[in-house]
Amino acid sequence: MAFKTLLLDNQDGITTITFNRPAKRNAMSPRLHLEMTAALDEVRYDTNTRVVVITGAGESFCAGMDLKEYFADLKEKPEEFARVGRLATEWRGRTLRYFPKPTIAMVNGYCFGGAFSIVEGCDLAIAAEEATFGLSEVNFKGFPGGPVSKSLANLLRPRDALWYGLLGRPFNGKTAAEIGFVNLAVPLATLHEETMVVARELASKDPNALRAAKDAYRFSLEMSWEASIDYAFAKEQELIVRQKDAFRNEGIGDFLKGKYKPGLESHGGSNQGA
Ligand code: ACO
Repeated sequence: MAFKTLLLDNQDGITTITFNRPAKRNAMSPRLHLEMTAALDEVRYDTNTRVVVITGAGESFCAGMDLKEYFADLKEKPEEFARVGRLATEWRGRTLRYFPKPTIAMVNGYCFGGAFSIVEGCDLAIAAEEATFGLSEVNFKGFPGGPVSKSLANLLRPRDALWYGLLGRPFNGKTAAEIGFVNLAVPLATLHEETMVVARELASKDPNALRAAKDAYRFSLEMSWEASIDYAFAKEQELIVRQKDAFRNEGIGDFLKGKYKPGLESHGGSNQGA
């Protein structure tokens, strides 16, 4: 598919998907939702992609849903409105959350409303200190709809979710890190470099181990203790098959031969540390 609203770039196993509507501050139009759905499907099965980074072109990460092309233009087209709403919800709320490869939101600037669900759907998030976040919905007489309220419930402390959701006040990347909405905030000038350090570290690890780590965490959130233990044991067997027993033979085997210390370094890779 030829993308009009996205740029895709792959370097060393890291695919960066860039929202590319800078003139509209990368607001999510119906076309962008279609293209994100297709792009995530493409990179999911792309053997050259080990890690996915999502960011925005220009001064904005994503200004939320396209208020004109979604809410205004589709006002009299309820079926199309529902269709786009479903697409918009699926890729942020489900596809990203259960994506078989690690994902990082690299928040370079404006991040409003619906864009919160992109950040929350990604496994990790790194923001520019200068970025501006906001649950702006109440400012235009709306509320955090679609997948956004659930994203807030998943990630934020109740006090923060209600503070920002009710007041609609913008906050910066430093605050986003303090309240745990992103993992860390760094100066915009070093955002790309710092994000790539993390992405390369992930890319150096066994992709099947990363996938199992994600699945075990994501799916056990909704399970009873008994089901999650059973699932984890079944996942262990799956991992053995997927990686041909590499975690026991090479991972544990090389430790037992005294070749490396897994507490401090990765097998055949690097650990940058905190
Ligand atoms: N939907 C549609 N168009 C948008 C959006 C949006 N969410 N955000 C910006 N644009 C468009 C503007 O209409 C404008 O288009 P135009 O040049 O054709 O007139 C263009 O992007 C630039 O916007 P400006 O407001 O001129 O840019 P500025 O840099 O001054 O401000 C900002 C950027 C702060 C992002 C501002 O545009 C804004 O407040 N946008 C709305 C953000 C928002 O509340 N998003 C909705 C969240 S709720 C949800 O997702 C359901």
